[in-house]
Formats: sequence, C-alpha cells, structure tokens
Amino acid sequence: MIKYAIISVITFLVCSNTNIAQTISKTICPIIPTPGAYQTTLGKFEILENEILIDSKNLPKIVGEYLKNQLQMAFSITANLQENHGVVHFNKLMNVPQNSYSIDVATDITINYSTDESCFYAINSLLQLIEGQKNEYYILKSFVSDSPKFEWRGLHLDVSRHFYTVDEVKHFIDLMALYKFNKFHWHLTDDQGWRIEIKQFPKLTEIGAWRDSTLIGHYNDVPRVYEKKRTGGFYTQEQIKEVVEYASKRFISVIPEIEMPGHSRAALAAYPEYSCTGKQQEVPGLWGVFDDIYCSKPETIEFMKKILEEIIPLFPSEYVHIGGDEAPKTRWHECPKCQKNIKDNNLKDEHELQSYFIRQMDTFLTSKGKKLIGWDEILEGGLSPNATVMSWRGEEGGIDAAKQKHFVVMSPSGYCYFDHYQSGRENEPLAIGGFLPLEKVYQFNPIPKDLPLEYHYYILGGQANLWTEYIQDMDKLEYMTFPRAIALSQGLWCRNQKPSFEDFQTILLNKQLPYLDRFNVNYSKAVFYPKTEIIRTKKGVGLIVSSTKKSEIFNVHINFDGSPYGWGGGNVTSNDTTFLDRHIYNSTFIITITSSDSTKTVFNFNSSTTNGFPLELITKPNTKFNVRGDLALVDGIKGKRPWKGDQWLGYSEDTIVFILDLTSKREIKNFKLGFLEAKGSWIYLPETVQISVSSDKKKWAVLKPSKATEYFSQVVNKKGRYIRVQVLAKTKIPVGSDGEGTTPWTFMDELEIEFK
Ligand code: ACM
Ligand code: ZN
Repeated sequence: MIKYAIISVITFLVCSNTNIAQTISKTICPIIPTPGAYQTTLGKFEILENEILIDSKNLPKIVGEYLKNQLQMAFSITANLQENHGVVHFNKLMNVPQNSYSIDVATDITINYSTDESCFYAINSLLQLIEGQKNEYYILKSFVSDSPKFEWRGLHLDVSRHFYTVDEVKHFIDLMALYKFNKFHWHLTDDQGWRIEIKQFPKLTEIGAWRDSTLIGHYNDVPRVYEKKRTGGFYTQEQIKEVVEYASKRFISVIPEIEMPGHSRAALAAYPEYSCTGKQQEVPGLWGVFDDIYCSKPETIEFMKKILEEIIPLFPSEYVHIGGDEAPKTRWHECPKCQKNIKDNNLKDEHELQSYFIRQMDTFLTSKGKKLIGWDEILEGGLSPNATVMSWRGEEGGIDAAKQKHFVVMSPSGYCYFDHYQSGRENEPLAIGGFLPLEKVYQFNPIPKDLPLEYHYYILGGQANLWTEYIQDMDKLEYMTFPRAIALSQGLWCRNQKPSFEDFQTILLNKQLPYLDRFNVNYSKAVFYPKTEIIRTKKGVGLIVSSTKKSEIFNVHINFDGSPYGWGGGNVTSNDTTFLDRHIYNSTFIITITSSDSTKTVFNFNSSTTNGFPLELITKPNTKFNVRGDLALVDGIKGKRPWKGDQWLGYSEDTIVFILDLTSKREIKNFKLGFLEAKGSWIYLPETVQISVSSDKKKWAVLKPSKATEYFSQVVNKKGRYIRVQVLAKTKIPVGSDGEGTTPWTFMDELEIEFK
C-alpha cells in the first residue's frame, strides 16, 4: 500500500455533493501535475473484483474508449460502459473556466468538466488516484479541482537523427498524455534524414530518408568512428494522418517542423538544385551544423511553398514550425543569387536575407490560415509580422519577442533540453553534453524572471526537446524523457505553488515511478542513486552522501593508490560527512559508494593542497554550467574528458577573473589549471592566462600572460596569500566552424598549486 507523508492536517467541514459533512485532511497529492486543489476525506471507494461500471451518459466517446483501454492495460480492470447505469458519473458544465474539471470521489465518483479535453484530463487524474493491487484496488475518498496554467505544454521529438516508427511515436504520445502534455512537436526534417512523404518531390524520401553511415560515439571523439550501415525511414502521408488522429484522441495537437533554411542537407541530397552551389552531396552521418543550406533564390522559395502546401492539410494544428535555427550564412555570402536578392530587396545583410526568406513563408502560411513558429534565430534580421518564437538558446529570445508583442514558447536549453545528462554517474549513458538534473527541470518556469508583467500574456507555455543524435532507440528515449517530463509537467500545468522538490521526489518514488512501471517505461533511476556533495571543511573538503530514501545506509569505500584502504570509509548513514583532508593526501583515489540495493556510484577524487580554499569568482559563470559554484575549481573532482555534464565551470565572457585565497602567506612554486577543448560543443581553449600574486589584495606582482593549454601549468616562484587569475577567452568562433561568429564557451576545472 502506498503511503504519503502528511504535511498538515486541517480539519474543517465541507458539504459534498451528497450534502454530508465530512472530515477532510490535506495530504500530499499523488497526482502529477499537481491539481489546483486536492483533499481527501475518510474512507475508500473500492473497485471490487477488478470491475467497474461507468455511466457513459455525458462521457465523450473517445474519452470513454481511452478510459476503458487504460484501465485494462495498466490495471487489468474491466470497465463496463452503460448509459444511466454505474458508479462513475459525468456532467458537462457550461459557464465554467475553459478546461477545468473536478472529481468527487465519494460513495460514487462524479466528474464535472467543461470541455471534452478537460474530461480527458480528469480521467488521467482519476487513473493516478487508483491505489492497491489486483482485486483490491481502491481510491481514497477525495475531491480534486483543476485547470491548466499554460496552453502550450509541449514535448518535441527529433525523428531525423534517429528514426522512430509509427508505433514508437504513438507510444511516445501515449506517455505524453499521462502527464497532460498537449503539443507534440514533430521534428520531421533535418540534415540526417527527411521523414515525410511529399508526393510532388518523391526523391525527398527516396534519397533524403536514407544515409549510408552514422556516427557512433561522440562528435568530439578523435578520431570519429562511423557505423557503415544504411539506415533511415519515413512516414507516408497516410501514416502521418494516422498519428495525427491518434494524438487528437489524446487531445494532443501535432506541430510539424520542416526545417529551413538550415539543417537541410537531406533535402539537398535529393534536390541539390535548391542549394547555392548545386553540388551533389550525400545525406550526412555526422551531426552538427553544415554550411550547405537552401539558397534564398525564388525557385527554392517555390519549392518550400509546394512542400508546405502538402504539409498543411495533413496537420490540423494551427501552427507550422519552420525551424530557422543554426543556418550559417557562408554560402549565401558567396552566392550571386543570394547577393542579388539582398541588393534587389534593399536588405542590409544575410541576416536580413534570412528574415526575408522566413517572411515569405509567414505570408504563405498566413494566407492558408496557419501560424508560423520558429526557433529564436528568426529574430535576427527582424521578426516576421505573424511569427511565434520558440526560445531555445536561453530566455533572451523569448523576452525580446514578447516585448515585441509576439507569442512565445519557452524551451531554454538550460531547463528543457532532455538530450543533456541527467546525472553525474560514471556510467551515465552517452549524451550530447550539458547537465540537466531533475531538480533543475523542476525549477523551470516558462515566464522569465526578467520579463515585465505586461508581457507575460505573450508566453504561451513551454516545451522540452528530445534531439536524438545520441538517442538511438525507444529504451533510451524513455530514459532521457522520464522522469524529467514529469518534473516539467509541473511547471507547465500548476497554477498554484508546486509542492517542494522534496515532496515531489516522495510522490515520484511512491506513486509516479510505480505508475510508469505499469506502462513498462524505462525511466532513469537517478533519483534513487546516492547524491554526493563536496563541502568545504576546516581541513579541506568533506563528502556528504545523501539519499531520497530516508536514513539509507551506504558503504563508502576509498581505494587509495590502487590498494583497498578503509580511511574515511565504512558504513555511513545518509547525510554523514566523510572528511577528505587536503593535508594528508596529495593523490588521486577512487571513492565507491554502495547503496543498500547494491548500486554503486564511483568517482575519482583528487586530493590536492588547494582543496576547499576560498575562491572568489569575480566573473560569474553562466548559470547553465555552474553546478558546483566557486568550489568547483577546488573540490577535488576534475572535469572529465570527454566532457560530461556537471563538473566544469562554463563561461561565455571575453575576460574571466577569479581570486584564490591560500588563507596564509605561502611560497607558490607552480600553478595549474585545466581547460576543456570540445569544438563540436562550441567549447574552445582561451587565448591566455595571466597570474598575479599578492599578500594583501592591494599590491599585486603581475606575471606575463601565458598561452592557455588544456593542462595549463605555469612556474610562479612567488610568495603571497592571494592568487588572481585572469583568463582571456577567444572572442569569436572562427568562420567555417560550428557556431561560427558566436562567443565560444570557456570551460575550466580543477586548480592545483604546488608549494615550495
Ligand atoms: C536547436 O536546438 N538547434 C533548436
Ligand atoms: Zn544562394
């Protein structure tokens, strides 16, 4: 039986619809996303012998079918639907807020709803209220009332980098429905595969849907390794209709994305005449951003319009996504036709040319009664009049668009990119990079903090994106999506304050993960793993091991210099601190933490003379890459190569300054600092590092700047207490490289000092 911690018990009287006064206690609500109101009363509604009789009067047919199927599939409960007969009743109410519903679980169950869609949400809430086991199912007597906060509650799926079959897509949609997502953003075209049949242009799928090789391992690997196997696939228009219909029965609208002008190599492999050079190239098996994009000439615009003409009738959604992201202007810069376009239309540059390209799509889509949505790059060169912006590079694009009174969907990569790592475990499966643990997703609010109130109206909602370069199959897709999608649904749905993250974890452990088990979902179990935190102590740093399971006992084993060594080890209870003393060791050793269920968390600790010293970050790291704060550089955990999410401090600044305090005057012999180079992730080595030493933070002995290297090391030979470090980053990613023209990331970790 599932128990929920009672956070407060309020006793008061209410009248239920049977007008019987009942005692009500306020408990943590098991339903996610958390409804606006939830209260339990005394007693249970029992489901006897795995059967339930449902009064189908006022129950929308498709919702009834869904309810019957879900009860059978997840609980093996047989639902008999009959009009004017049963213990579950439905009422459609007029003059109530749109998409609101209530559930009253008493002797009978009564569901009131405003729209068919809200009846569907009520059903998904009701299903999450079922407790117990086969032949002993019950629902606590309770009252739920609810309505969503945001109208756009989206998940995106990239089927280009890896293809997902119709059945797999339907399964993804099924899982979305459990958590009341209502927008499925189907990323149908990209460089590595064109996935939708277009009858006027058959080569798009004959050629564009297939590639001969695929990168295995990471983009940043040297050398890169490819699997030389022909892979691909596409959806016929009939299959597309089938998926759209399937989603509509779950009140999910499908938004097709047809990428332009960039991410178009698959289409150009089929029709090279629509590029600037006309050069025949293959569908690439490598990820990234390619210089070859659609040419802006009128013939290409006509080609795109003809494609959209076939897309529009397939998707009832009011939106069509046209991409617009990551389109290098290299080819346009050199192409006579693109340059003529700039001149003839009095455009300033290639950014305005992109804006001109998108505007023609906007005019076309608007004339067909559709709304254009695109990634935030469509702001560059001027936003098209009717465009909605999907803000992914951060919140700035969304803020900018909302201030221009354009509608916005927030999908900032720091909160919404589910292709990023979700735990710092050594054996976490390969991901693109980045670090997005559950806690961070839980903090997501589609309304940016810096957006003035008068523009909040323009934020339609939010969405998480599943780019599939490193997500090869359904198992991994489920792993990357869940439970983060559950955390996200809270930010998109809850009107009231959400439960605390701690309470959310309790609900996950006790209710939602077992609920996902009913659907055989391969969710990440990161929430179960011991959490390790390095803290500052008087002698250096300490390790705290904690768990979502209260008073979990861990075995901490420290393997020092290759031989088993028990120091600091043994059994520790959740929240005990193990001390890692900088004065005792100056070496790398391995810490293994074994949980009571035998899962192991392993990491390398690098005990050094600087562990735990105060460090002042004068230049603040970017919030996306600042998991450990100022301790990151002196916590004894070295950033991993190749890059894995959480260890590095990341900056997007030209000049980075920090000051290390050695706490007393010391003879400093040598200074070391690690930098990361991962050009595919737009992470570059900085230009120079300059060290200054001081005894009082006023007078500084300034050393000559030195060229930065991955394992930077510099002889200092000076006496002092403070070391100031000034790093000059590269200001721009060079032309011809991924992310050209933008400020690259500078990543650093770990700082070490040798004393005399
Ligand atoms: C994107 O992630 N390139 C929109
Ligand atoms: Zn061109």
